[in-house]
Amino acid sequence: MTPADTDMLVRPYTHADRAPLLELLREVWPHKRDVAAHVEDRWWWRHAGPPLVVAEQREPRRLVGLCAYMPFTLVSRGTAHSAAWFVDFFVLPGCQGRGIGSRLTRAVQDRFAVTASLSQTEMAYRVFRKLEWHERMPVTIYMHPLPQRWMIRAPAGEYRVETSDVESAGGAAAALDNLWSRLQGSYPVMAQRTGADILARYASQGARRYQLLRCHTPRSCTGYMVVRPVQPMSDGAPPRDGLIVDYLVPPGEPAVFQALLREAVSLLLDAGVRRIYCLSTVPACRRVLARHGFLSPSTPVLGRRLRGNTKWLTFTAAAGSLPADPASWHLTLGDCDLDHVWHRP
Ligand SMILES: CC(C)(COP(=O)(O)OP(=O)(O)OC[C@H]1O[C@@H](n2cnc3c(N)ncnc32)[C@H](O)[C@@H]1OP(=O)(O)O)[C@@H](O)C(=O)NCCC(=O)NCCS
Repeated sequence: MTPADTDMLVRPYTHADRAPLLELLREVWPHKRDVAAHVEDRWWWRHAGPPLVVAEQREPRRLVGLCAYMPFTLVSRGTAHSAAWFVDFFVLPGCQGRGIGSRLTRAVQDRFAVTASLSQTEMAYRVFRKLEWHERMPVTIYMHPLPQRWMIRAPAGEYRVETSDVESAGGAAAALDNLWSRLQGSYPVMAQRTGADILARYASQGARRYQLLRCHTPRSCTGYMVVRPVQPMSDGAPPRDGLIVDYLVPPGEPAVFQALLREAVSLLLDAGVRRIYCLSTVPACRRVLARHGFLSPSTPVLGRRLRGNTKWLTFTAAAGSLPADPASWHLTLGDCDLDHVWHRP
């Protein structure tokens, strides 16, 4: 160990770290007006043991680095793995390049079978690659710049879509469980989406209010979608962005996705949104989005300005536990914290 290593302790966050954590975050987020309020709004505090690892310098005693992660369950070929999304990750500029970022990363990845990141800076990616994470793959956020109610026709077939606030959807848990048990094997790698997972993940948080759309055939629930209009910072202004935060549909039945998308667009337009975003890795759903005017960075000419709508998936897994091809992951904005941090000018 070098003297720098012994002076630095990488350890889980404890409640006594609250004040030093705020001090660290004021340095890391100087552009945020009310850091304390921002911190209060993070998902960290929903866990009895906040999912945070800190780097503490002993002399003078202060926190110089942080890694926050979102624990979840990843299901691959019928096997459930403990997993974490790697999210907030920083080391104070004066302390960078001394291996602290690598130690924070190892402290998280050693606790889970799978650790993944869906959006990261070049600096973070360099740390991950040094620790032998998979080469990253692009993940596309589609965006409709001018959504209209008439643009999506009802698909042929007997599909009925029911909408409710997630809060009042408690009775839907059994139908969502049923859907999950039918579809979990349809995608090689996916976050667990039982009824309890969905209802807990999308319970309202701060200004974030989610609506749950369920698509039914005469026999059963065949898919769901979760949406939310993004409330703007200034009071009274209508929401500008609408998010299709999450969905689960049979991969071979794009009509189910289309039926849900039609209702989702209508609902978001009712809320006043002017642009709609949807992250999708499922080929059949991507085709439905593209066919209905949703743009991706690869859309000829128009897509050029959407470069920031490409996110990047990289992960590390205990040997042999996941398909090597990361393109087989079913991902949505609700995975990782892309939904939580959504803010656009
Ligand atoms: C990403 C970050 C947390 C990594 O922390 P770190 O303590 O610097 O990481 P390490 O010391 O383990 O460095 C990892 C590699 O990056 C290099 N590196 C890190 N910071 C560097 C810098 N400022 N300049 C040049 N190289 C740097 C290190 O030298 C090392 O590579 P090497 O061992 O091959 O030389 C830190 O750079 C950071 O806070 N960056 C700004 C915020 C950010 O981008 N966060 C990620 C959000 S996803």
